[in-house]
Amino acid sequence: MIQCSQADVHKPMFTSSGSAMRILGIETSCDETAAAVVERAADGSGRILSNIVLSQLAEHAPYGGVVPEIAARAHVGALDSLVQQAFDEASLAVGDLDGVAATAGPGLIGGLLVGLMTGKAIAAAAAKPFVAVNHLEAHALTARLTDSVSFPYLLLLVTGGHTQIVAVRGLGDYTRLGTTVDDAVGEAFDKVAKMFGLGWPGGPEVERRAMHGDAARFAFPRPMRGRAGCDFSFSGLKTAVRLEAERLAPLGEQDVADFCAAFQAAVTDCLADRVTAAIDLFDPRSGDRPVLVVAGGVAANQAVRTRLEAVAAQRGFDVIAPPLDLCGDNAAMVAWAGCERLAHGLADTLDAPARARWPLAEVTRAEGQAA
Ligand code: KG4
Ligand code: ZN
Repeated sequence: MIQCSQADVHKPMFTSSGSAMRILGIETSCDETAAAVVERAADGSGRILSNIVLSQLAEHAPYGGVVPEIAARAHVGALDSLVQQAFDEASLAVGDLDGVAATAGPGLIGGLLVGLMTGKAIAAAAAKPFVAVNHLEAHALTARLTDSVSFPYLLLLVTGGHTQIVAVRGLGDYTRLGTTVDDAVGEAFDKVAKMFGLGWPGGPEVERRAMHGDAARFAFPRPMRGRAGCDFSFSGLKTAVRLEAERLAPLGEQDVADFCAAFQAAVTDCLADRVTAAIDLFDPRSGDRPVLVVAGGVAANQAVRTRLEAVAAQRGFDVIAPPLDLCGDNAAMVAWAGCERLAHGLADTLDAPARARWPLAEVTRAEGQAA
């Protein structure tokens, strides 16, 4: 149980300094239960005081994907003690907080409700401001926590559920330049992994196998390459892999490695092409060297990172990818989004709804913000 008493408010082990703020973040939108405490200093820089992530991989692995009902129940079972751990690691108590932030969407509604209600309850009991965080915004702002990146920047968000290129011009000021018309890129990795029985989630294992494979063995399509705009498509590529695998079955270890390498090379080409198109559309509007931020679980892929760094460098962009443990789902990014919002006075009321669908373009925009 989370202890919350008046005594906590005056706990002497922690003293507030200047206008620094500490926010508790809660993330339960998919299959990670996570709680974290993040501090935002008066100068706008961030520091992670604790970051606890409990993956439900083992629960979902037998089904080859996330089962919403199982996810929601697992969040219920784990969240309370995770929040307590986050307080303990940060050496803080609930009274030391300046606010509570929880992911309100987009995501699986059962899980969202668990995190959102817990966050609201803690905020209400401790009389702290509450922030209902958009999960995509949390991914989008992570590079400001880890690398103090200034607005504006270009964001490539590549997760199991989303593949988007967004011009991030300010807090809540997001223009989507491109998105997938079918599968998300992480989903494509996962589905290809499933074809070869590589377990779930498939991205890391496909990458591992690809290291020993011959990417030139199969000429897979590069959907959308060279098209106007910045949209993606991965469904045709996935089907091409499946048809070729069926044709060559039964497959040996080397065959699987070659498939993984050729698939990953095709994905990497597609991402590089679409990012190049976005860079050409993006107006950095400042004399500073422009930045491409790569976020989401697929940003952990070294081949993807290396290739994106090359295409960005060709056009004078730096690439910033948050550390691996902050690329996937976590609560530090949620707490940080809460910090940024509260710093602009953007608290939410306790009737903020959980939203299965919540496009970035519908996120509230901060007025009069400074980079
Ligand atoms: O951001 P994330 O942790 O969760 C959400 O989907 O929101 O992303 C998970 C996705 C999965 O599809 C997983 O297969 C993929 O990221 N992924 C990778 C790698 N590591 C994780 N894909 C390719 N290569 C990797 N090394
Ligand atoms: Zn995510």
